[in-house]
Formats: sequence, C-alpha cells, structure tokens
Amino acid sequence: MSVICVIGTGYVGLVTGTCLADMGNQVTCVDIVAEKIEKLKKGILPIYEPGLEEMVHRNYQAGRLHFTTSYSEGLAASDFIFIAVNTPTGNGQGGADMRYVESAARSIAEELDHYAIIINKSTVPVGSGDVVSRVIHNNLKRSDITFAVVSNPEFLREGSALLDFQQPDRIVLGSSDPEAAYTVARLYMPLRAPIVTTDLYTAEMIKYASNAFLATKISFINEIAQICERLGADVKEVAVGMGYDKRIGHAFLNAGLGYGGSCFPKDVRALAHMADEAGLHPQLLHAVMEINHDQRRLVISKLTSILGSLRGTTIGVLGLAFKPNTDDMREAPAVDIIRWITSQGAHVRVYDPVASETGREALVREGVRLDSVTFCENAYSVAEQTDALVIVTEWNEFKSLNMQHVRSLMHRPVLIDGRNIYDGSEMHRLGFIYRAMGRGTGPAPTILPAGDSTALPALQPTLDLNIGD
Ligand code: UGA
Repeated sequence: MSVICVIGTGYVGLVTGTCLADMGNQVTCVDIVAEKIEKLKKGILPIYEPGLEEMVHRNYQAGRLHFTTSYSEGLAASDFIFIAVNTPTGNGQGGADMRYVESAARSIAEELDHYAIIINKSTVPVGSGDVVSRVIHNNLKRSDITFAVVSNPEFLREGSALLDFQQPDRIVLGSSDPEAAYTVARLYMPLRAPIVTTDLYTAEMIKYASNAFLATKISFINEIAQICERLGADVKEVAVGMGYDKRIGHAFLNAGLGYGGSCFPKDVRALAHMADEAGLHPQLLHAVMEINHDQRRLVISKLTSILGSLRGTTIGVLGLAFKPNTDDMREAPAVDIIRWITSQGAHVRVYDPVASETGREALVREGVRLDSVTFCENAYSVAEQTDALVIVTEWNEFKSLNMQHVRSLMHRPVLIDGRNIYDGSEMHRLGFIYRAMGRGTGPAPTILPAGDSTALPALQPTLDLNIGD
C-alpha cells in the first residue's frame, strides 16, 4: 500500500485518484476549488464518467479515498504526488498554458517536508518536467528536502476512462532519475501492462505524438471520405477493408464530423506550436487541423445543397457532446454547427441524452441566441416538423430509433448522417433524402468468414461496420 496525493480533481485527477484507491492505496485528492471538494465529499461528481460515481462512493466509504482543499493535508506522508491539473491552450497561438501546473508545483514546494516522487500527468510541452523541478526547487521551504520528478502521461479516453486506467495498453514513465521511475513502475505493477521507461522529454513527447497520430488517422479518413463521396465509393467499407491490414488496424478510421474534445484539438495545436517555435514547419499537423475544421462545415453545405437557404427552416440536431458517453462539450462540433445554422436564420431543435445542460452552457458561451434553439426531451420530439435532421453525436440510442416514425414526424424528410450510423439503402427505402459522410448508398458489404468460400451464396450482409469504435 502506498500513500498518494493527487492534485486536481478534474477528469484525469479524479479517475487516477479513484482507481489508485481502488487498487488498495491511501489516496487524498486535493483541489483548490472548495465547492468541488465539498460536493465530492457528498458523492457529487464534477464530471460524468460511466462507473466513476460508484467507484468514488465505494472507496470513500472504505476510507481509502479522501478529498481536501489543503495541500499540507494532502501531502502529509505521501510517497507519490500526482499533478493532474489542466493545461488549456494559452497564448492565442496554440501553446499550452502552464499556469496551473506551475502553481501546483509552487504549492507542493511550500508544504513538502519529506522525500516524495512528483509525477506529472498533465499534458505539458516537452521540457516542462524541468520547469516543474525548477519551480519546486526554487520554492522549497526546507533546503534539506529532496524530491524526484517523473513524467507519466495519461492515455485515458473520456467515456471509457476506468477501463483505460485498469487495462492500459502501456504505461510511460520518463525521468532523469531512473530509480524514481522504477519506484513508480512498482506502483503500477498490479495492472500488468507493458511499461516504457525513458527520459523526461521523450515521455512528454510520446503523449503528444500519440494524440497527434490518432488525430491524423481521423483527418486522413475524413479526407478519403471526401474523395469517396466525389468518386462514388463508400468510406465506411473502405475503412473496413483497410483495417484488416494489421499494419493499419480498424481503430480511429470512422469518418464523420472530425475530432473534438479537450485533448486532440488542444494537443495537435500545442505540438504544431512547439514545432513552429523550434523553427520547423509541421505541414502534416497543420493539414490535420485544417481538414478537421472543414469537416464540420460540410453539414452546412449538405443542408444548403438540398434545402437552399436555411432561413425560416427548422433543423433537428441529435447529439451535443463531442462524443458519446460523456457530457463534455469542449470543442464539440455541435457548437459550431448550431451556431452556423442559427446564424443563417434557421431554428434548431436539439436533444442529447446527457449533455443538454453542459450543451446549453456551451452554446451561451459561444454567443448562440437561445431563443433560436429548443431543447427537447427525446429524439422523436426533435424530429417534429423539422425540415432536416442532423446526426452530430453517435449515441447508441440514436442507432436504434424507429426511423419510419421519425420520418412521419418531419416536415421534410432530409437526413444528414454526420456520423455514418445508418444504412443508406434502408434510409432511401423509408423515403429519406439521405446524405452521409463519404458514403454511397449501395448495399452493405459482404465479408466472408476466413477460409469459408462455400458460405458465399448463403451469406447475408450482416457485418457490423462499427469496428474500432
Ligand atoms: C483522447 C485519446 O484517445 C486518449 O488516449 C487521451 O488520453 C486523451 O485524448 C487525452 O489526451 O486526455 P478523448 O479525447 O477522450 O481521448 O476521446 P477519443 O475517444 O480519443 O475521441 C476523440 C475525438 O475523435 C472525438 O471527437 C471522436 O468523435 C473523434 N473520433 C474518434 C473520430 O472522429 N473518428 C474516430 O474514428 C475516432
């Protein structure tokens, strides 16, 4: 059992602290926002993450998980101190804002009275581990205290963060003090994951390169989608066909409205900024960002190509969150799409299973006039009297709607499937004018079981194309 302090109770800090407590450690989560801590003590979480609330309750009740606003309480007897504060885009050019990391480092230095390993989980520009060391060193109250800094980037996905923590593909640990990295490795040993130990700069770069690679995969398939659409191919089937090549894989080849969220947009921008600052010209990263930005605009051009002017129309929007299983609205395509639609004089009807409240706040922040937006109780209510329906977030409940009923509720049967969740031929059969992202509307593909050519005539086209979700 180790004694652990986690600074920051956002999505990374709370998941990390709770999962470490669940592994049997004593964990204290520190946050300077008193209201957040008070709520956490009452079991009210600041974020929606499947399974997290139950795990917080269980470990809090068991006395392994504690919440406080006091650094001295949190740091007392801690062997490991995790920094998990946010690093938003800061300087207007895409660089990461290190203010919160530096302030956490200063507060640690002011209270630290014993040797501890400080582990940075926040996504920070390459070289930041040195900054953290320097800030702590310069602010230590006692000059006899020693410490080590380890970079341990997180690879948690919102919506499946508990699983990602408990069954990681790899754990990356970077430090100029190998002994400290090995000590942290022992903490993670029960997870039985491959552990990569390296230097600080490399560990920090692994995080950016991983997110940038995944974002590149998404922009790549979105560019292919546009080419498919023009040439009459179906990008969903192209992705399936490509993905069976082990060198490519199926994951992150879902074409759609592009990536959003708190990570990919910020991290690709920050990496490009670091490269620019270093005198390089990161052409690929700039192209990835440009494609991603243009992707959400396609909704508007698809709508106007069918409806002409949007003035006076009513457009239904299904989904607000940047992806399913979260209420996170950061850089969600829905915000841009609703802003553009309403700015053209249309009214929007919208529904999201969990992000209605955070969605409303995000729209207000972005200056969308709420009298142009009706928040509905369910998907069917969204469809009522609409001139078009747009699928923005691929929540499971949207995949199994009674589309015949949806069609009967609409004023005009226009369906823009921004996440490619419906079968095009079926939608045409139901009478929709159906537009997806990079897809023709031919029959679903037939995939033979490996080696079974005799099965060919009897096979039904039943392939689930959502591989790699
Ligand atoms: C991402 C990474 O997947 C995590 O490994 C990383 O730890 C995290 O960022 C982070 O840096 O903190 P997350 O932002 O939660 O996690 O979401 P993803 O599931 O990766 O999806 C990101 C975006 O890509 C979403 O907008 C999603 O709709 C989009 N996406 C994903 C696609 O458009 N197509 C795909 O095929 C996959």
